[in-house]
Amino acid sequence: MHDRLAVILLGPPGAGKGTQARLFAGRLSIPQLSTGDMLRDHVARNTPLGREAKVVMERGDLVPDAIVVGMVEDRLSQPDAMRGFIFDGFPRTLPQADALGKILDRLGFGRPVVVNFVVDYDGLFRRLTGRRTCALCGEIYNVTDRPPKVDGRCDRDGGELKQRSDDRAEVISERLAAYDRQTRPLVEYYRTHGRLVDVNGDADAGTVTRSLEKVFGAPQGRA
Ligand code: AP5
Repeated sequence: MHDRLAVILLGPPGAGKGTQARLFAGRLSIPQLSTGDMLRDHVARNTPLGREAKVVMERGDLVPDAIVVGMVEDRLSQPDAMRGFIFDGFPRTLPQADALGKILDRLGFGRPVVVNFVVDYDGLFRRLTGRRTCALCGEIYNVTDRPPKVDGRCDRDGGELKQRSDDRAEVISERLAAYDRQTRPLVEYYRTHGRLVDVNGDADAGTVTRSLEKVFGAPQGRA
C-alpha cells in the first residue's frame, strides 16, 4: 500500500517534524531524510560543505539551495530510498521544491504527500530552548514536555543528551523569520502541486501522531 511513498513534513522550527518523522519512518519502514541532520553531520565531520554550512546555520539562515539539493540527490541514490522516504526540513524554498519535483518525476514517484504542521509561534521558543537530542541515536526529548528518566541521558541507550547550538533565543528568531520569508510560500505551492494535509501541530505529540495515523494508517492491531 505504501509502495513508493514520498512524504514531506512542512512546518516552522519546533513544529514537531523530527519527532513525528522518526516515528513514522520506523513504522512505514522508509528512511527519514532530515537535511538538518545531514548538514549537522557535515559540520561535526568538519567537511568543506560542513564548514560552509556552519556559519549560515549559526545565523539561523538557510544553506544555499545548490548545496542542499546536491546532498538530497546523493542521498536518494542510495538503495534504502527506493521504496520511499520522509523528508524532514526539505524542501524549504521554491527552487528546492521545483528541483525535488523534477527528481521525483525522474525516479517515478507520484505527487508527494505533504503534511503541513499548523502551529502558533508563541509555544515554539519553549519547545526549542527545552529540546535535548541524544548524541548516539538522535532521539528527541524536551526538558519540560518529554524529560528523560535520568537527567541528561537517553532512555534508550544512555547516550548524552545535547542542546543544539542554533536553539538559542536570538537564532530561533532568525530561523522563524527565514521560515516566514522562504518556506511558508511552499504551503500554497503544495496545495496545488502535492497532496497537502493540514495537521494541528499545537496539540500534544500523541495527538499529532494520531492525526498522522489518519493519513498513513495506524500500527497493526490499533484503530
Ligand atoms: P532543521 O534541523 O531542519 O531544523 P528546523 O526546521 O528548524 O526544525 P527543528 O528540527 O528545529 O524542529 P522540528 O520541527 O523537527 O521539531 P522537533 O520534533 O525536534 O534545520 C536546521 C538548520 O539547517 C536550518 O536553520 C538551516 O540553516 C539548515 N537547513 C536544514 N535544511 C535545509 C534546507 N532544506 N535548505 C536550507 N537550509 C537547511 O521538536 C522540537 C521540540 O519540541 C522537542 O523538544 C520535542 O520534544 C518537542 N515537541 C515536538 N512535538 C511536540 C508537541 N506536539 N507538543 C509539545 N512538544 C513537542
